[in-house]
Order: sequence, then C-alpha cells, then structure tokens
Amino acid sequence: MRVHSILAAGLAAVLTGAVLLGPSQAQNAPAADQLALTSQKETTLGRRLLMNSIGANNDIIHDTLDGVLPMDDLELRGRLQSISAMLYAFPNLFRAEANPYTEEGEKADPGHVSLSDTRVWEDFEAFKQLSYAAYIKAQEAADAPPDQMLARVEELEVMCESCHETYRKPFEYFDFDRVEEFIK
Ligand code: HEC
Repeated sequence: MRVHSILAAGLAAVLTGAVLLGPSQAQNAPAADQLALTSQKETTLGRRLLMNSIGANNDIIHDTLDGVLPMDDLELRGRLQSISAMLYAFPNLFRAEANPYTEEGEKADPGHVSLSDTRVWEDFEAFKQLSYAAYIKAQEAADAPPDQMLARVEELEVMCESCHETYRKPFEYFDFDRVEEFIK
C-alpha cells in the first residue's frame, strides 16, 4: 500500500469511528485512568455546590473590595485561594456521558439537574482550558499587591461571565441581584 493510501485508510477509519460514536463521545471516550467511582448524579450536585460556593465567595470578595464589608486582607486572599482551587477542580467533575440542562430533568429531580450547556461536552478541551485559565487568574488575584487586587478580581469576573455565556444555561432564579423580587 502506498503511503497516501495508508493515510487515507487511516483517516477513513477515524471518520467511521467518529460517525459510529457520535461527535461528543468520540472526543470524550474515557481512557482507563479516567473512570470514576461516583455517579453522574453525585458529580452534578458536586459541581453545582462548588460553583455556588465560588459565587458566594466572589460576592463577599467584591463587597469587601467595594468597601461594603470591612477590609480583611488575609480573608480576601483565603477566599481567592479557595476560588482558585475550585476552578481547577470544576472541569474534573464532568462525566463523559453528557447530562446538559433539560426542563424534563429539572422537573424530575431539581436537586441534581445540571445547568451546563451541551457545548461543554462538544468542546470539552476548550472548556477545561478556560477553567484552568480562570484558576490561574484567581491565584494571581490571591497573590496581588493590595492596590492591584480589585483589577485582578475584575479580570476574573470577565472570565466567569464569558464562560457562562457559552457554557451555562441562562437562568434567572439564582440571580442574587434579583433575589428581593422573589421574596416579595
Ligand atoms: C470555564 C467555565 C466557567 C468559569 C470560568 C466559571 N463558571 Fe460558573 N458555571 C459554569 C457552568 C458550566 C455552570 C453550570 C454547572 C452545572 O450545573 O453543571 C456554572 C454555574 C455557576 C453558578 C450557579 C451554581 C448553581 O448551580 O446554583 C454560579 C453562581 C457561578 N457559576 C458563578 C461563577 C463565578 C462567580 C465564577 C468566576 C469567579 C465562575 N462561575 C466561573 C462555568 C464556569
């Protein structure tokens, strides 16, 4: 067989494999060391709790830097350190089998429904890299001199929002800025 026909046969095999598996599974087929000991439901709840905590920590950091809460340098750095670690852990809480947000899923089990968009699984490597970039940014904020911390935190918040725009289902019911409307 000539070289280019060997290559063509190889490519055909790859393409056939991709068609048989479907695009997201072909990309995300787990290796032997990627098999988990916890369930899809547990991992979904785990990543929601984790993201929720990132959000709560970030609100406190922002209010502190805005002067709404009393300044405490050590506390700020500790919270940023936690956010950083959580952003590293976050993409590691996804299973190869996709479980994006669905209305039916939410009705069936609101405690375990995912807010992730299907694009997480279609484009997992890019999603993971975004999360790791945010992990590094949060670490930079934790290590920044006091007069540069707010700038680093604002850069981090741009990363939060741009990831959510692509990879998270838009939702209103957890929007803390609107919480008063729900209480009325
Ligand atoms: C790399 C992408 C990415 C980055 C960076 C990111 N998020 Fe998220 N976030 C998500 C995804 C995806 C979800 C939905 C997770 C799920 O339910 O499966 C989410 C969910 C959330 C939630 C809702 C939690 C819940 O279920 O109630 C909050 C709040 C949140 N993120 C805040 C933040 C904040 C604040 C930052 C930045 C400090 C941040 N996120 C950074 C992707 C990201």
